Amino acid sequence: MNIVDLRSDTVTRPSPEMRRAIAEAEVGDDVLGDDPTVLRLQERVAAMFEKPAALFVPSGSMANQVAIRAATEPGDEIICDVTTHSYNYEAGGPAALAGCSMAFIPGPRGIFAAADVAACLRPRNSHFPQSKMVIVENTNNRGGGSIWPLERVADIQKIAAEQRLHLHMDGARLMNACVAARRKPSDYTRLVDSVSMCFSKGLGAPIGSILAGSKPFVERAHRFRKMFGGGMRQVGILAAAAIYALDHNVERLAEDHRHAQQLAEAIAALPGLRLDPRDVETNIVIFEIEPRLGTAEQFVGRLRERGVWMFATGPTKVRAVTHLDVSGEQISRAIEAFRELCHG
Ligand SMILES: Cc1ncc(COP(=O)(O)O)c(C=O)c1O
Repeated sequence: MNIVDLRSDTVTRPSPEMRRAIAEAEVGDDVLGDDPTVLRLQERVAAMFEKPAALFVPSGSMANQVAIRAATEPGDEIICDVTTHSYNYEAGGPAALAGCSMAFIPGPRGIFAAADVAACLRPRNSHFPQSKMVIVENTNNRGGGSIWPLERVADIQKIAAEQRLHLHMDGARLMNACVAARRKPSDYTRLVDSVSMCFSKGLGAPIGSILAGSKPFVERAHRFRKMFGGGMRQVGILAAAAIYALDHNVERLAEDHRHAQQLAEAIAALPGLRLDPRDVETNIVIFEIEPRLGTAEQFVGRLRERGVWMFATGPTKVRAVTHLDVSGEQISRAIEAFRELCHG
């Protein structure tokens, strides 16, 4: 069966052209700092983000956890939205690896305001955890691929600077935000102290993420990357895939966004499914199943029998993610499967 795999944009496979770039990559020992392709990638991304330095790491989780460890000390507190990936889906990393507590903001669709940060601040005395870091996730995964308005990030940057908080952007899907909002990456990244971005999601590389920030921050992150087991040797083969992704797979994200909008409009028109297509800003579509169609798990099971794969993300919630390995024809097939289940 020709599967329509909408579980995540992490399922993309390297194309023959990307594999060629991998095969031809010049390499060296990156732990010793002499892999030329990694150095080229790091310099390119640092320039693109207008940051002094960048560090290639194996995954988005490692980029976030290294950033958290580098920006904090045990006993510090991190302010973030309640849906934040680095808290919910990184195996308790902030507690286990950095010894930090979290203060949560229930922002609508993962987006919060400077006043919410102010409300989380701890008094600076010895009884309290020390507020040290703020994380914004752009786009926000559990918020349905929502894009942070630039002014919101700017407001948060102001309070972070006043309160001496490190502002980190988990930009796993930053390029989706930039393409959809027609912004340059640096419009966002110049407002934050550090930023992570994944090559292994919509950009289509098999492995790899990057963390950028000031020189001292990246030097500290480098030490924690080693400590967490993320020092890699002839990893130019992966950096080459990331460079290929930056050269070829950024602008095309607009196509994934169009597919997500198509899917969202079809879902919104069906009885038993709930979704506002205006909430779908990028490549993530989250919708609710009414009880008469069963649980989200059952609904996803019936879609799977029809060759359409997605994840239940709650008892009544389902998430579909579009990406470069899903064609327009496959989106039409997914919509057909929805129609059969809702009208059948
Ligand atoms: C917003 C966000 N941050 C970080 C990550 C972690 O990336 P990785 O799976 O490479 O660890 C993900 C993965 O889906 C994500 O959605």
